[in-house]
Amino acid sequence: MRYLVTGAAGFVGSHLAEALRAAGHDVSGVDCFTDYYDVAEKERNAAGLDVRRLDLAEAPLGLDGVDGIFHLAGRPGVRSFGGVFPDYVHDNLLATQRVFEQAAAAGVRVVFASSSSVYGEAEAYPTPEDALPLPVSPYGLTKLACEHLARVYGRASGLDAVVLRYFTVYGPRQRPDMFFRRVCARLLDGGTFELYGSGEQSRSFTYVGDAVAATVAAMERAAPGTVYNVGGGEEASVLEAIGLLERLSGRRLELRRLEAARGDVERTKADDSRIAAELGWTPTTSLEEGLAAMWSWASGTVADA
Ligand code: UGA
Repeated sequence: MRYLVTGAAGFVGSHLAEALRAAGHDVSGVDCFTDYYDVAEKERNAAGLDVRRLDLAEAPLGLDGVDGIFHLAGRPGVRSFGGVFPDYVHDNLLATQRVFEQAAAAGVRVVFASSSSVYGEAEAYPTPEDALPLPVSPYGLTKLACEHLARVYGRASGLDAVVLRYFTVYGPRQRPDMFFRRVCARLLDGGTFELYGSGEQSRSFTYVGDAVAATVAAMERAAPGTVYNVGGGEEASVLEAIGLLERLSGRRLELRRLEAARGDVERTKADDSRIAAELGWTPTTSLEEGLAAMWSWASGTVADA
């Protein structure tokens, strides 16, 4: 098949593009290479892939011969507030509207990367997909708006879209602003890690290889219009996860405690029963295995987070 991956120079996008290529597909990528984090790092992620530099909100995608679009491009970051909001509207909402418009016109399926952050402080744990979404960050709000766009274009223009709500994905190449990446960087350079809140907040941390497998399954087997949680099986608190990384690395992490961050939620816990029943996907990488892979990668890479 011929697939287009948006955000192919990003963390999850680059892993997905590589996996699709390894499975024998013809893969092209696009990426805006924004400066949300070091562009050189994105260029390293994209090395060996065919990635065009393109702003999805401005330029046409070019869908001739494309069988499916994995739309992973977006501006991440649940803790961003204030003057950057127009960037979230541009990179998430506007860009996604353009992708959906073109995909609907071309009759091409889109798998859209949404986020567990659409739930906010969820009304139930484990959280099923039909829980009321009440995001607590501008980022989460734009992701939820994109999900609504998928539904609107499905109804109005026959868009075939599948929505995936990823839960805190980690592993090699994780973004430098994310928790595990920062913990690894401080374990390596001996610096102080800034802990937001009590450390009792917990996440359904999801290994990137598992997230990629769910994403491919969604393209191949999901019914149009379906929404799926993609969450790692084991929930862990931030302090438990730090303990695991300390053990794996044989090092101690120095902590500085700060106030809880705006935009953060206390807990995420995915209910994966829908994706298990309909796509046969379940996470297979334990947190310990995933963190071992992450540490091995991070300790062989310049600690720049
Ligand atoms: C992550 C991604 O950044 C989002 O793009 C994604 O949409 C979201 O997961 C999701 O699942 O929806 P987050 O859960 O905040 O967001 O992931 P991390 O940055 O890895 O943070 C995990 C926890 O570590 C948070 O509770 C955060 O407060 C804490 N943390 C993070 C710190 O205490 N200190 C830090 O320097 C960074």
